[in-house]
Amino acid sequence: MTVLIDHRDPAQIDFVVRRLRESLPVALPTETVYGLAGIATSEKALGQIFHLKNRPQFDPLIVHLLGEEYLGEICEIDFELQKSLCRMFWPGPLTILFRKKKSIPDLCTAGGPWVACRAPKHPVFVKVLEGLRGKVLAAPSANRFASISPTSARDVIRELGPHGLEAVVDGGDCKIGIESTVVKVISESHIEVIRLGAVSVEELRSCVGAKCEIEIRSSGSGVNVAKAMDAPGQMKRHYAPKTSLMFLEDSRDGEIDFSNAALLKICANDPVPTSLDGPWKKTINLSESNDIIEAASALFRTLRQLDDDPAINLIVALPSDEAGIALAIHDRLRRASK
Ligand code: TXA
Ligand code: MG
Repeated sequence: MTVLIDHRDPAQIDFVVRRLRESLPVALPTETVYGLAGIATSEKALGQIFHLKNRPQFDPLIVHLLGEEYLGEICEIDFELQKSLCRMFWPGPLTILFRKKKSIPDLCTAGGPWVACRAPKHPVFVKVLEGLRGKVLAAPSANRFASISPTSARDVIRELGPHGLEAVVDGGDCKIGIESTVVKVISESHIEVIRLGAVSVEELRSCVGAKCEIEIRSSGSGVNVAKAMDAPGQMKRHYAPKTSLMFLEDSRDGEIDFSNAALLKICANDPVPTSLDGPWKKTINLSESNDIIEAASALFRTLRQLDDDPAINLIVALPSDEAGIALAIHDRLRRASK
């Protein structure tokens, strides 16, 4: 049985902090998705996270901290640009790679020299970090490996409860609903996007300036895939529902049996090619009001709902014409398609 923790009760938050100090994992809400947290400097805690998630050890974990001032204990800062990114986007959904120090076990970084760090914005996660007085938390998304990230405590329990998760703090639905953007600073004028996410390329551009190269290496981005595969954790098939999903980026007249299929559109106004007129069993718009932020927040929840629907055995997703976070939505749909 997983204990559901009420974040409004200080005694229950104290319990969470004590558990974490004992190197026991707890699932916590963040503004992006729920994370499975454990003390990042504890091999024991990290081992339990990998075990609960059934995650291969070649896939490194993100370390969560209260802010830039906590980086010194765990990593080196090599570039001014890293600091600028922290100042612009923290607390928030940008994860930045740094050269790790010895305090971070190799298990956390999959044996590599880079540790991925971010300062989450969710008040419950912040409260727990404050209780830990300077200790930092590794927290991958709180789902089984290659499955959909959970955006509610209920989804966390469904993912990890049967595998022995003992505690999750209920912080309600995650506001953003899609994971952080992961970046690596290569030089003062070059950054790589390792995973597209909640911070859009346009937002990064506004921070780094017109002269900085922003190279997208995210494996679901459709570009540079071969190159991206040499980065840890860039498995192409990821974020996948159990139901088959086709992401139709180019209109095609391939045979689709509409009778048990759902059409998944990102925004209500996105065009549907005439060959896909249906009749579909179900048509879903992630945002009826064509708001791409709202669409992102509905993505994983909707994929789970479709997974639960016995009448649906195929999801056909279409791309959006919108900019910004649409790129991250496309990335997840590409990786979810079989
Ligand atoms: O929004 C998020 O980032 C959420 C919340 C809980 O913070 N966390 C999350 O963690 O999505 P996870 O482990 O599910 O995804 C982290 C991604 C993985 O693709 C991983 O391979 C990559 O970041 N990553 C982590 N450390 C890395 C490193 N040292 N080098 C390259 N990629 C890294
Ligand atoms: Mg994940």
